[in-house]
Amino acid sequence: MRLLVLGGTHFLGRHVATAALDRGHEVAAFSRGVTGAPPDGVRPLRGDRDDPAALPRALDGWTPEVVVDTSCQTRPAADHAAAALAGVRAYAFVSSLNAYSTWPPGPVRGEDGPTWDTPDDDYGPNKAYAERVLGAALPGRFLTARAGLILGPHDNVRRLPWWLQRIARGGRVVVPDALEQPIALVDVRDLAGWLVEMAARGQAGPVNATGPAGMTTLGGLLETCREVTGSDAELVPVPEEDLLAAGVEPWLHLPFWLPRETAATAWDVDTARARALGLPSRPVRDTVADTWAWLRQDPERLPTPHGLPEPGLPGELEATLLAGR
Ligand SMILES: NC(=O)c1ccc[n+]([C@@H]2O[C@H](COP(=O)([O-])OP(=O)(O)OC[C@H]3O[C@@H](n4cnc5c(N)ncnc54)[C@H](OP(=O)(O)O)[C@@H]3O)[C@@H](O)[C@H]2O)c1
Repeated sequence: MRLLVLGGTHFLGRHVATAALDRGHEVAAFSRGVTGAPPDGVRPLRGDRDDPAALPRALDGWTPEVVVDTSCQTRPAADHAAAALAGVRAYAFVSSLNAYSTWPPGPVRGEDGPTWDTPDDDYGPNKAYAERVLGAALPGRFLTARAGLILGPHDNVRRLPWWLQRIARGGRVVVPDALEQPIALVDVRDLAGWLVEMAARGQAGPVNATGPAGMTTLGGLLETCREVTGSDAELVPVPEEDLLAAGVEPWLHLPFWLPRETAATAWDVDTARARALGLPSRPVRDTVADTWAWLRQDPERLPTPHGLPEPGLPGELEATLLAGR
């Protein structure tokens, strides 16, 4: 089968390309060539998806049968893909739980909740717009995977890599005193392989694509980081009120931490459809250990940043919070 990945050079797109090759498909990946090349064996196609002529020009007679779209972040990118690729047999789109106008804080019950329908040029509204435009262009052939937290090797958003590297350095590590907070995540390789399989079989419709609610906790994840790094770091729980008063930004400075009011519902996402459609959920320890093994291959060479702010607690803020504790 000829499978086109939109993206395909790092993190999820890279794993999608690899998963498709592993399953014997002929794979092409479309990207600008800014952040590296796709894996060996993939036909690289070059162009900017914000340019309406770029996709038809790059395809140049190579006709994909199915598409996995990991790189759509703008409305023009969705419009141009809908115009160029409406004839494919199946189109699997990587959206986000942020497409729901009620999440965060959620909860998310099934896939029928309202999605954004506003003109703002923001992440969630843009994903929801792309779902509408592509869904209309590909009736009955469009799957939208509303992904939650994606973790694993080649992570260019760097939230788990930051925790692993901070805990590996040892000493006293500030953690929120919300270690019992439930967390759900999807391993990037589980999601990638599943997307390829869903596209190959022409599965359509919206799917909350993350791990089962309550599969781990913030404390469980951080303890696993300690185990796999072999660190003797001391985790120092700091009350939420003190973190907020010191200017610690939830999710950014202490990745995965949400204030308790939001956390109570944000991690409560119904994934029954994903489970019924066979989205795997490997043990969290495997995801953490494999991310650490990947980081250790060359700790200085983190992947090209995603363009989001760099996660992690600034050293001076950590020192202030630890003083007197
Ligand atoms: N990380 C999470 O926890 C999370 C959670 C929910 C949803 N998601 C979604 O999951 C997906 C993750 O995808 P990803 O990991 O593969 O990385 P990504 O950073 O979203 O996608 C980057 C890929 O797209 C290409 N690209 C970027 N801009 C382009 C443009 N204008 N024209 C053509 N190609 C372009 C990049 O190559 P070049 O730079 O070389 O062009 C690269 O191959 C995203 O759609 C994201 O919104 C992520």
